[in-house]
Amino acid sequence: MLSAVATSTLFLACYLTYHYFHGVTRFPGQGAVRPFYFALLGSHTLLAASIVPLVLGTLYHALRARFDQHRRLARRTLPVWLYVSVTGVAVYWMLYHLYPAK
Ligand code: HEM
Repeated sequence: MLSAVATSTLFLACYLTYHYFHGVTRFPGQGAVRPFYFALLGSHTLLAASIVPLVLGTLYHALRARFDQHRRLARRTLPVWLYVSVTGVAVYWMLYHLYPAK
């Protein structure tokens, strides 16, 4: 789990650096896929913001050997983290591969 946190931190740093210089990419898809894409992106973005305090809190309890509190928080952290990871790849794939900008 420490490796997962370290890798995720590195990814977040690269992601923020990339978006600082590159800005946003508009989604060109039209029709039914558009509301689907924005629902996916919206839920991904909201939960991605909430994952930072969740992971830090889960890690904090584990490192202090407070495993009761760790377990209680981890039951929320893990599914949210998995959802954010999977939808992140789905958003990337839709934006850059399924509907690439012309
Ligand atoms: C953010 C990182 C972490 C996440 C998402 C995470 C997630 C989890 C999950 C989902 C469980 C099972 C909860 C259940 O019983 O339903 C668990 C249990 C546990 N984790 Fe973590 N974990 C993390 C970091 C760590 C670290 C760094 C340690 C070691 C210091 C650790 C030690 C443990 C232990 C000992 C248990 C078993 C507690 C018990 O059943 O009494 N975890 N963790």
